[in-house]
Amino acid sequence: MIHLDQAATSHPKPPTVLAAIRDWYERLGVSGDRGDSSLCREVRQKVAATRARLGELVGLPAQRVAFTSGATESLNLALRAVLRGGDKVLTTAFEHGSAVRPLRALQRERGLRVEVLPPAGGGLDAGAAAAALAALRPRLFVFTHASNVTGALFDAAALCDLARRHGALTLLDASQTAGLFDIAVGADLVAASAHKGLHGPPGLGFLAAREGLDLPPQKQGGTGSAAALDEHPPTWPAAFEAGTPDTPAILGLGAALQWLDAEGRGHLCATALERRAELIELLRRRPGVRLLEPPGPRTPVLSFVHEGLDPAEIGAMLDAAGVHVRTGFHCAPWIHRHLGTETAGTVRMSPGPFVSAADVRTAAAAVAG
Ligand SMILES: Cc1ncc(COP(=O)(O)O)c(C=O)c1O
Repeated sequence: MIHLDQAATSHPKPPTVLAAIRDWYERLGVSGDRGDSSLCREVRQKVAATRARLGELVGLPAQRVAFTSGATESLNLALRAVLRGGDKVLTTAFEHGSAVRPLRALQRERGLRVEVLPPAGGGLDAGAAAAALAALRPRLFVFTHASNVTGALFDAAALCDLARRHGALTLLDASQTAGLFDIAVGADLVAASAHKGLHGPPGLGFLAAREGLDLPPQKQGGTGSAAALDEHPPTWPAAFEAGTPDTPAILGLGAALQWLDAEGRGHLCATALERRAELIELLRRRPGVRLLEPPGPRTPVLSFVHEGLDPAEIGAMLDAAGVHVRTGFHCAPWIHRHLGTETAGTVRMSPGPFVSAADVRTAAAAVAG
């Protein structure tokens, strides 16, 4: 099967990721922070190395990086920890359900005021963001680094800077960009998945917070440290990690980060962008296809609709031709009314670095004319 769904999850995983996971199940089998045997010490060192590399990637200290079950959990924890009753929040029309839904829930629970920045020319306009920040004076600006529907990539560093100047904290959802682009953009909090561009296993993500940002733990439980106390420790990363961690997944991510460094993030991203450009070129020639092309920088993600066929029908044709894509709304509930795709969503193709030019030709040819 040709995998054109990297925006949902990367496939295949590098062989070293599988080997690291397997090594945990076959040989290691313990948590780093639950004991002091030589096995625990070995695992502890591997987990620490993974945390340290993530810290470098987000530009925050390793100790301020907590492992979570994914970007969804990271966003939920961060929003719940930061927002208090009556707070104002600025966000964007591009957000994923993992930000939209906790925001809506908190709006009901805590009476938040949530303002949504609409897209401008397919992207986010810094002037409009500045005006919204000045008018609303929000406590938090939460935004995705890139649209998981159109691939539009935003200038996160400029947006974080603007927010800071208007006294707002920033929570960056880097799920679509981690492993592909620079995510050390000066955000106060960064949430991301391990299993997309980072090429790690699913069910793992992280939340990173800048030093000095004191946030109350949102889950309480075992941490392996301060175990005699009945209060959950407020110190990071334990503050945001409760319960037995998914150690095999963390070690898998550690191997993925080493693989990314060895291959070169820029090179992998450029390959995927090349495949995206080839897809665009070929799809443009297919009758009935309308590409939803944002101007400006983008990730290796593209969406299109067809004038005669529903996205699900195109998805079924591609499936029959051995191509896996995603169709529908892609868990981004707000953006479709701006794209005019609110009825059935889009067909999304998101190539990763393992996709070949021949794969791209097979996929484009399978889209009915
Ligand atoms: C922009 C964005 N944010 C958050 C998520 C949620 O990530 P996870 O499913 O790993 O929790 C996704 C995944 O689809 C995403 O694309």
